[in-house]
Amino acid sequence: MTTEAVAVLDFGSQYTQLIVRRVREARVYCELVPWDAPHERVERLNPRGFILSGGPASVYDEGAPTLPDYVLASGLPVQGICYGMQLLAHALGGRVAPAGEREYGPAELDVLRPTNPLFAGLPSSMKVWMSHGDRVEELPPGFVALASTANSPIAAMGDEARRLYGLQFHPEVVHTPHGGEIIRNFLYNVCGLKGTWTPASFVEEAVARIKEQVGEGWVICALSGGVDSTVTATLVGRAVDDRLTCVFVDHGLLRQGEVERNLERFRRLGLNVVFVDAKERFLGRLQGVIDPEEKRRIIGEEFVRVFEEEAAKLGHFDFLAQGTLYPDVIESAATASGAARIKTHHNVGGLPADMRFQLIEPLRYLFKDEVRQVGLELGLPDEVVYCQPFPGPALAIRIVGEVTEGKLEMLRAADAIVTGEIERAGLGREVWQYFAVLTPAMSVGVMGDERTYETTIAVRAVTSQDGMTADWARLPHDLLARIGGRIVNEVAGVNRVVYDITSKPPATIEWE
Ligand code: XMP
Repeated sequence: MTTEAVAVLDFGSQYTQLIVRRVREARVYCELVPWDAPHERVERLNPRGFILSGGPASVYDEGAPTLPDYVLASGLPVQGICYGMQLLAHALGGRVAPAGEREYGPAELDVLRPTNPLFAGLPSSMKVWMSHGDRVEELPPGFVALASTANSPIAAMGDEARRLYGLQFHPEVVHTPHGGEIIRNFLYNVCGLKGTWTPASFVEEAVARIKEQVGEGWVICALSGGVDSTVTATLVGRAVDDRLTCVFVDHGLLRQGEVERNLERFRRLGLNVVFVDAKERFLGRLQGVIDPEEKRRIIGEEFVRVFEEEAAKLGHFDFLAQGTLYPDVIESAATASGAARIKTHHNVGGLPADMRFQLIEPLRYLFKDEVRQVGLELGLPDEVVYCQPFPGPALAIRIVGEVTEGKLEMLRAADAIVTGEIERAGLGREVWQYFAVLTPAMSVGVMGDERTYETTIAVRAVTSQDGMTADWARLPHDLLARIGGRIVNEVAGVNRVVYDITSKPPATIEWE
């Protein structure tokens, strides 16, 4: 690894991923590593410094996570946050004790040593966020108190000569407004890093690494047209040129015009794409299926079959490129439980790991917004870079009940109206996902002088940061009126439109 990197040791705090975010925002590459991971795992990263996360334990608890020996032995700069600070103090001869009562919430930090590199350029007093039970009562030899709060006389400590620092508060959360700068000061002023990790440097390194991994081999990639698979294919294409073949499967469950749009886009991007029309196979297998999980299973399984058959037809491939992202592979002490340490989550299409290919996953250490930045760097168009998330099982899980050609047609038409109107209103980026759902509800209406008894379409539009939680989007009433009016007028078989006003939880974003 040529990039300057930092290792974030995870001691189980709920904020560890935020530390990673803040470090990367300072353009320094970093990875989250469980505190008890083997040393080789950290060595591979060749870190120029360590950040120790917070965690729920107390250093005196039996079986509490400990500071791995290699951290202090390395002589590299260390920044301990909360539990990480207490670990440092404990290991270096300070004294940690319960804080009397648990301190949680905002506090005013007074900087005692404004010339210390950690607080350079920052105000002498600032808001910080506290969340701790224990605190450092006695400094280890060589350390001085750098800052204090009313409840924590040692809210920050440092040994400038050995480049060891501890913060009792959480600089990684938004409630510590200058937190990002404190982390950046640690990276730049203490570790001496320059912040050179940019989308451009990422592309350069990823292409070089793929070249090295693939050698003279051949690569196959399942392409959906979404941002992850398109960025993956473009990166791999840059590295191996025409030894990459992409496979785009039409399972008959895509949105209106999506197949044509994707094919045209792939052509413009210069990707070598084999198109597989597998509509009949998928729809045949979905006949009579009502259970949502069964739909998912069938679509996943059929996708793998189609992909394997195509790969066999196309010749010999050594590598499979996939757009797996960091949140899917992150190994975290907070989520780890015994044997099930790594949460593996297969990508859209759910290609199984036991296929005979070696995997190429150039995005496996990136968050979604970082992938979008890389997409922009690669010159991908905005409609790919900022496209909405779209589930692998596609429209099949937006039709409640059996999937039929007729219902798909109805849903596609309604969905095109929903997306078209929201985008025309300029709300496409603000709203996380927006789409139509075909409900099983039939209701009575009146059209002209005739009674109708037809289908109900639900409009779903949500705001969200990451899809884990979501709120229904407060779309302007005029816009909703336009959407409703157009759907009943233009989509045959629909006489009623409702707007879904549930958040997640308790509902989910998709209806199935
Ligand atoms: P839910 O419906 O669980 O969705 O709130 C959260 C996010 O995940 C997407 N989603 C899926 N993506 N396969 C996928 O690849 C699936 O089976 C699937 N189900 C939901 C959903 O669109 C939303 O962004």
